[in-house]
Amino acid sequence: MKVLLVGSGGREHALAWKLAQSPLLTRMVAAPGNPGIEAICEIRPISPTDVAGLVVLAREIGADLVVVGPEVSLEAGLADALAQAGVPCFGHSRAAARIETSKAFSKDFAARHHLPTARHGTFEAAEPARAFLQGFTPPYVIKADGLAAGKGVVIAATLEEARAAVDDMLGGRFGQAGARVVIEEFMAGEEVSLFALCDGETTLLFGEAQDHKRAYDGDKGPNTGGMGTYSPAPVATPQVVARAEAEMIRPTALGMAAEGAPLRGVLYAGLMIENGAPRLVEYNARFGDPECQVLMLRLRSDLLPYLLAAATGGLKAMPPLAWREEAAICVVLAAPGYPDAPEKGSVIRGTEADLGEGVALFHAGTARREDGALIATGGRVLNVCALGKDLSQARARAYAAVAKIDWPEGFHRTDIGWRAL
Ligand code: AMP
Ligand code: GLY
Repeated sequence: MKVLLVGSGGREHALAWKLAQSPLLTRMVAAPGNPGIEAICEIRPISPTDVAGLVVLAREIGADLVVVGPEVSLEAGLADALAQAGVPCFGHSRAAARIETSKAFSKDFAARHHLPTARHGTFEAAEPARAFLQGFTPPYVIKADGLAAGKGVVIAATLEEARAAVDDMLGGRFGQAGARVVIEEFMAGEEVSLFALCDGETTLLFGEAQDHKRAYDGDKGPNTGGMGTYSPAPVATPQVVARAEAEMIRPTALGMAAEGAPLRGVLYAGLMIENGAPRLVEYNARFGDPECQVLMLRLRSDLLPYLLAAATGGLKAMPPLAWREEAAICVVLAAPGYPDAPEKGSVIRGTEADLGEGVALFHAGTARREDGALIATGGRVLNVCALGKDLSQARARAYAAVAKIDWPEGFHRTDIGWRAL
């Protein structure tokens, strides 16, 4: 089978690493890929939002399947264009991706289908938004409607701060993405990311992971795209997962199909668990990054037939997924200044060293300079991942590998996995 993989982050490197192990794979091309992916397969410099360019590439290589990593490609309509071209795509249509790309759509959908989640309101003007805020107690949760690269959520401690956030968003801080704001009830508890493959009707649970969203140790500092993950996550007990599947995942797949926008790809439910009860924080239409990395390490089954089944409607016939007994962890190495203003261009050494047993290194924001040096080009730069017989062993292995990477400018959290240890 020939596969086109779209994306350039650590998530896509992990997908490439796992797909490359499939006995069914005959050729893989990634666009645009990164230096880590380039060590696995051919890469082509086509942007993940260049829909026409990606369709031409899929045709050129005779792709049997296109695997889409990032949501920006879905929002650009890549899956719709591939459907027109008759190429199977693991990734949702633009309409289905609204489950992530529009928080207003997503929250309204949750209300229509009675999914357990926070009470909310959607506003395009400041006055009614301010009035709605009065009905809540602190802290207040204010979100920009559209994609804002993980920065569109404000948890405000006071009414004053909450009003300022509303004014800021409606005032154009996030451009079109903030033309509407969602205000919702604050949910207490512990967060976990749960994944399910969807083929339009059938859903298949695809494991869970816990992310660390804050930049610094002790869950301090600004929110980021994620500084590290581990899986399995003890908070996602079999009971919690079963409830989430019955109360959210299944009704969501059925509801989206009934509304004419079936899900074909992965559904990522951000859950808040309080007293064993899951509530929905948000949906995403893609694998989490860096959640995907630990799931790929733990997955024993061949990934390729599952992604193809999700793309083509064959999930019902697939055998259950097999997972390793081991625990997996991912530590993100980030550029100085991340998340606000990451500095680019510093040189990273030591990535080719033997990083030890059970360790996998995924590139997230790197590039090769003309002289061959590996440099940092993004906020989250490297993902140091490890398997271990339990989380403590996985963690020890990952941090031992981090110590071997020579990148004085980079920073990372030293407490990934603390909740489970
Ligand atoms: P989102 O982009 O919607 O996932 O929000 C980013 C982060 O903000 C989440 O991962 C949560 O940590 C937090 N958050 C969002 N909505 C709520 C809420 N209603 N209650 C508590 N925390 C929330
Ligand atoms: N790690 C969180 C996300 O992918 O949104």
